[in-house]
Amino acid sequence: MADTYLALRVNQRGSLDELHIESLQFPELKEEEVLVKMEYSTINPSDYANVLGRYPGIAFPTTPGFEGSGTVIKSGGGEHADSLLNKKVTVVYIGTWAEYCKAPSCNVFPLLPTVSLEQAASLNVNPLTIALFIEKISQQKSKSFVQNAAASSLGKQLIKWSNRLGFKSINLVRRQEQVDLLRSIGAEYVFNTSEDGWKNQAKIVSREIGATCGFDAIAGSETNDLAQILENGGVVYNYGRLSGKNAEVGPEALMFEGKRIEGLWVLSWLERKNSKEKYETSLRIQENIDIFEKEYSKVITLEEVKDAIEPYMKNATNNKILIKIGRD
Ligand SMILES: NC(=O)c1ccc[n+]([C@@H]2O[C@H](COP(=O)([O-])OP(=O)(O)OC[C@H]3O[C@@H](n4cnc5c(N)ncnc54)[C@H](OP(=O)(O)O)[C@@H]3O)[C@@H](O)[C@H]2O)c1
Repeated sequence: MADTYLALRVNQRGSLDELHIESLQFPELKEEEVLVKMEYSTINPSDYANVLGRYPGIAFPTTPGFEGSGTVIKSGGGEHADSLLNKKVTVVYIGTWAEYCKAPSCNVFPLLPTVSLEQAASLNVNPLTIALFIEKISQQKSKSFVQNAAASSLGKQLIKWSNRLGFKSINLVRRQEQVDLLRSIGAEYVFNTSEDGWKNQAKIVSREIGATCGFDAIAGSETNDLAQILENGGVVYNYGRLSGKNAEVGPEALMFEGKRIEGLWVLSWLERKNSKEKYETSLRIQENIDIFEKEYSKVITLEEVKDAIEPYMKNATNNKILIKIGRD
């Protein structure tokens, strides 16, 4: 093994131009940490926010990338870390845009033989968030929900997973192609928010199916749209800021209709789970790989990530990118 390895790095927050390749020394491992030789990763909206320095809790300089796949080649000791040695794994931890990634063993999940390393590149950030959504819906003793930005990668997986669970969903998108796309994957109720009258029609369906959970990836006035559609007492869960605006909810919904808004963040949810709970969730995702695997629109190298981020953010639907890190 060489003395150093290559990683994408950002020295200070503020601009995509900061992203560059650097040669790094291998890190020391503590007990229950492992070193993963990375094979694949992907680009998510959270990576864009992180490179720009808009993600909380990240110290700069940093190696971005929140998920990926590879093989555990070294353990810092400890029963769980040692058990992962030489296993093919999927990883959820900061620093996956690199040839090697140091991660706590509790954030590294061995792959079922039916799951490939390519599929495992993106089996965490969105799928685990969907597991969190299902937990929220179940806590409300509900079986239905409304989501916006529903043609996102996460939105499509949520539709397929909720169909498998027998849940009903109302899906909001902004273009007709996205309506057609979601109908083609089995979405029953899809509304194009660019068309007149969509909100009243969505409210009628919401009443029929008793939707009390709303999942908001956009913020701005779209948060209020969700609040208006939900049944009284419903909760809007904001989990993204695709509009770049603050979430807005009108006082009518809050005061007179007993509705609430809450934020959801998969990383803080994961921190509250123990190793066994995290692994069982990953296993459930892997067992349903037909739902959670992504169709990648292209394959790029680490060197090509910098130029790929902005075009992906501007044209995100059906445009997930696979980063091939391992060199043949
Ligand atoms: N809080 C958490 O823990 C957490 C975890 C995972 C993901 N997320 C969030 O989940 C969201 C989806 O992630 P993803 O990876 O699935 O996204 P993605 O595949 O990159 O897709 C983004 C989708 O959002 C649509 N969109 C973008 N800006 C929009 C706007 N202003 N109004 C309406 N639609 C808009 C895009 O449609 P067009 O093609 O029309 O642009 C596209 O369909 C992101 O906001 C991400 O940050 C949050």
